Amino acid sequence: MGMNGSLPPGRRAAVVAGLRTPFVKAGTDFKDLSAVDLGALVVNELVARSGLAPKEFDSVVFGQVIPSPTVTLIGREMVLRSQLPRSVQAHTASRACATSIQTTTDAADQIQLGHSDCALVGGTESISDAPIFASHALAQALVELSRARSLGDRLKIISSLRPKDFTPNPPALKEPTTGLTMGESAELMAQKNGISREAQDRVALESHRRAAAAWEAGKFDQEVMHVAVPPAYERIATRDNIVRKDTTLEALAQLKPVFDKRYGTITAGNASPLTDGAAALIVMSEEKARSLGIRPLGFVKAYAYAALDPRDQLLQGPAYAAPVALDRARLGLKDMDLVDMHEAFAAQVLSNLKAFASKDFAEKELGRKEPLGEIDPARLNVNGGSIALGHPFAATGARMILQTLRELERRKGQHALLTVCAAGALGAALVLERE
Ligand SMILES: CC(C)(COP(=O)(O)OP(=O)(O)OC[C@H]1O[C@@H](n2cnc3c(N)ncnc32)[C@H](O)[C@@H]1OP(=O)(O)O)[C@@H](O)C(=O)NCCC(=O)NCCS
Repeated sequence: MGMNGSLPPGRRAAVVAGLRTPFVKAGTDFKDLSAVDLGALVVNELVARSGLAPKEFDSVVFGQVIPSPTVTLIGREMVLRSQLPRSVQAHTASRACATSIQTTTDAADQIQLGHSDCALVGGTESISDAPIFASHALAQALVELSRARSLGDRLKIISSLRPKDFTPNPPALKEPTTGLTMGESAELMAQKNGISREAQDRVALESHRRAAAAWEAGKFDQEVMHVAVPPAYERIATRDNIVRKDTTLEALAQLKPVFDKRYGTITAGNASPLTDGAAALIVMSEEKARSLGIRPLGFVKAYAYAALDPRDQLLQGPAYAAPVALDRARLGLKDMDLVDMHEAFAAQVLSNLKAFASKDFAEKELGRKEPLGEIDPARLNVNGGSIALGHPFAATGARMILQTLRELERRKGQHALLTVCAAGALGAALVLERE
């Protein structure tokens, strides 16, 4: 993406509106809703609230990290399940936990190129509805059964199966190249970077404290829709149900490590929880927003994606992507009024922050003389992050963009940096600006 200065007039990509569902712990309020259902709920509500005529939209870019096998193209499904005209073209994008950063930058690129003027973007995730796979032996047997001609053939196939073949395989949050789960990889990062359990629990505590305070102050009321809970639809989910306003350092210290039970430091308290939810944004060309009399929440100024070897520090991607995004924005960390760093694990946040501030990391890993610098805690994840709010993978980026732009407005700030670490050792960084 080019610098704003080199853009044709009016082609800046503006985020004009956004909305999310409450983020809820997997297996709770949204257990009877699929990712497509959640996505459609938020898309319909956002389009309705925007006051825009559906015909104003020309594209949809949507994502889901754990795909539903029966939904081939969630992007297009968002059009077909909403009041948007059937002529709105759509695609699906995935970049693991940075998926809705990707859907936003995809739309921003298309807007800057002049190919699009108004896009709906976002992501949705249902861990409650994640596909469960049959074992290879059972899957093969089922295919053979469908082709079997006689009862004898069928019995032969069935009798070849062993009890273990019936054990289903849930989707694993495992890195295919290393065989390690996200949590195990984060444990390694904690060890490598000398991140203590107490420091992690403090990050978690702050995340909950700030998220609870933001809810109390009504900051999220405009950006979180209400969802009637099936099957009875008698109850309404109005708030995130993972945020704990009463969490203490003592309570967090009591929790047992989950990924390395013996020597580990990562617990259910200092990790992002498995979460269901969806989030969406409307991205428009600046000139279209102006012509419709809409005041944008803010603009996409620059972005960068980066990657490292998954066998190294799996979730360190932000430390590689952020300097590039800031360079592309021709800004420094000190220019950022807010920084929003996705909290996959407190150990990852602290590892990323350490790398941001490290001269050694800058020289050896980035080939730069100076580190990016330290982030003022008063500007970092000011309304809580994914540990407290939850992390429905594909929805998190859009949640962060909306939450940050609205806070930037409250503070009359100008610039914000967002970072997301993702599977495959990817990192995403996005610089947003107001006016
Ligand atoms: C860490 C993980 C395994 C925990 O799952 P879980 O065991 O279902 O977690 P729970 O919410 O049931 O919490 C376990 C216990 O900790 C307690 N707890 C969790 N957070 C707490 C907090 N902030 N304060 C106090 N207690 C807390 C719960 O109350 C629960 O206690 P109980 O057993 O007495 O009911 C799961 O959330 C996970 O896999 N997270 C990582 C997701 C991931 O890899 N994401 C990818 C990032 S990119």
